[in-house]
Amino acid sequence: MNLLCLSGSLRAASSSRAVLEHIAGHLPEGVTASRFDIGSLPHYNADLGAPEVVEAFKAAIEAADGLVIVTPEYNYSVPGVLKNAIDWASRPAYASVFKHKPVLVASTSGGALGGVRAQAHLKYSLNGMLARVFPWQELVVPQANQKVKDGVFSDPATEAFIGEAVAAFVESIAAGR
Ligand SMILES: Cc1cc2nc3c(=O)[nH]c(=O)nc-3n(C[C@H](O)[C@H](O)[C@H](O)COP(=O)(O)O)c2cc1C
Repeated sequence: MNLLCLSGSLRAASSSRAVLEHIAGHLPEGVTASRFDIGSLPHYNADLGAPEVVEAFKAAIEAADGLVIVTPEYNYSVPGVLKNAIDWASRPAYASVFKHKPVLVASTSGGALGGVRAQAHLKYSLNGMLARVFPWQELVVPQANQKVKDGVFSDPATEAFIGEAVAAFVESIAAGR
């Protein structure tokens, strides 16, 4: 099983990236992680047709058994770079590579709410693309920057909570649910 891991933040010291890498590094046995740099995608413009990098992104989603997305919240919503990426991959509408694709969403923030508003907006969009958003309690990492040192995420309570969700997500994919 392979999970495509996407970060909604591009910066090197991103706490979202650190949480994502923590997940990627602690997957159940037999499960591998792949990555795609969504910062390499152009701004969405239908006039561009099918740029090679967009086709590569769509192929990576298609090939994955599921997606793990960890995103920060920007101004109460999904960061533009992540929205841009999912907009590219969302075509053709209702028949895109997202259709029936299992997706696990987690969010981070420097504040107390852990990006939960961005998470809700992201799930709303994914549902509109007929993705299979994994139903679970919201996976949020508040005060995330304080839980990352030298790019490594560490917070035992959150790690346990996330680990349980990831295990259940993988199990649901394996069972075809
Ligand atoms: C443009 C911008 C908008 C932000 N808006 C929010 C917000 O609405 N809610 C929030 O909790 N944090 C907000 N933040 C703070 C982020 O939670 C914080 O910068 C976080 O570390 C970004 O995630 P990253 O570490 O993965 O890059 C914002 C940050 C930026 C740069």
